[in-house]
Amino acid sequence: MPLSHALPEGFDQCDPLQQALYTTLFTRRDVRSQFLPDAIPDEVLARLLTAAHYAPSVGFMQPWNFILVRDPATRESLHGAFMEAHLEAAAMFPDEQRDKYQRLKLAGILDAPLSLCITCDRERAGKVVLGRTHMPEMDLYSTVCAVQNLWLAARAEGLGVGWVSIFQRERLHQILGIPDNIQVIALLCIGYVSHFEATPELQTKGWRQRLPLDSLIMENQWNQPLSATEFRQMIVQTQQSAEVIAHNTNKAVNESLLTTPKS
Ligand SMILES: Cc1cc2nc3c(=O)[nH]c(=O)nc-3n(C[C@H](O)[C@H](O)[C@H](O)COP(=O)(O)O)c2cc1C
Repeated sequence: MPLSHALPEGFDQCDPLQQALYTTLFTRRDVRSQFLPDAIPDEVLARLLTAAHYAPSVGFMQPWNFILVRDPATRESLHGAFMEAHLEAAAMFPDEQRDKYQRLKLAGILDAPLSLCITCDRERAGKVVLGRTHMPEMDLYSTVCAVQNLWLAARAEGLGVGWVSIFQRERLHQILGIPDNIQVIALLCIGYVSHFEATPELQTKGWRQRLPLDSLIMENQWNQPLSATEFRQMIVQTQQSAEVIAHNTNKAVNESLLTTPKS
């Protein structure tokens, strides 16, 4: 991924490792519209799965499994299950939102060459797990950390990832033969892309805007806003810089994707 040498205010003092990490974070996108059919080399896939496996997990449970779905017939079935749930979801929105919802593309299961189902085995480390005794849902959060690791690694590899959660759970279990004691966490579509967007599709298409970070930070107590004006200004500036990094980097990446022939 081409890195801009002079990052904007707030990031300009970062060393190359920090720059690479922040650039990956701010340029990561949920992708569903611009997948290319090109196969993902095994060595790249091996890196992504390894990145996922090195996620933190409560009590070091490592509760995840990964089901790679390349088979077109199985992906057709997944797409069918998505469409069923998508129609059900559309009917639940109020009239004024439904039209907008129906115009969004919310899955690229047939476009991306690989679907990946990430699951959580809630019993992997026995009944009593260090760190999970009072908050049993921590194993689910651990698996989400694995998803995020993979998502970021994919962005660094120039691969798009789209998370699809518009499914009836039973249909996913049925199609992929997942036992009842295993919980599905994510169904991801993965593939190379024609380009990366700088902003979330839901934002560009007017569904929802990114919230100002400074309005979300409290101090010492719930609902107690930040007291230091200077720090608040710094947060505002740093968020603006994140947008600049996303725009500049993805613009450069998109130009190189257009001009570099794919092998
Ligand atoms: C748990 C989870 C489930 C999601 N499910 C869907 C989905 O079913 N369809 C979709 O188009 N995007 C889905 N997304 C992607 C979000 O829409 C996306 O992350 C958000 O709009 C911000 O965009 P960005 O990821 O490009 O920054 C999901 C994201 C998460 C974290």
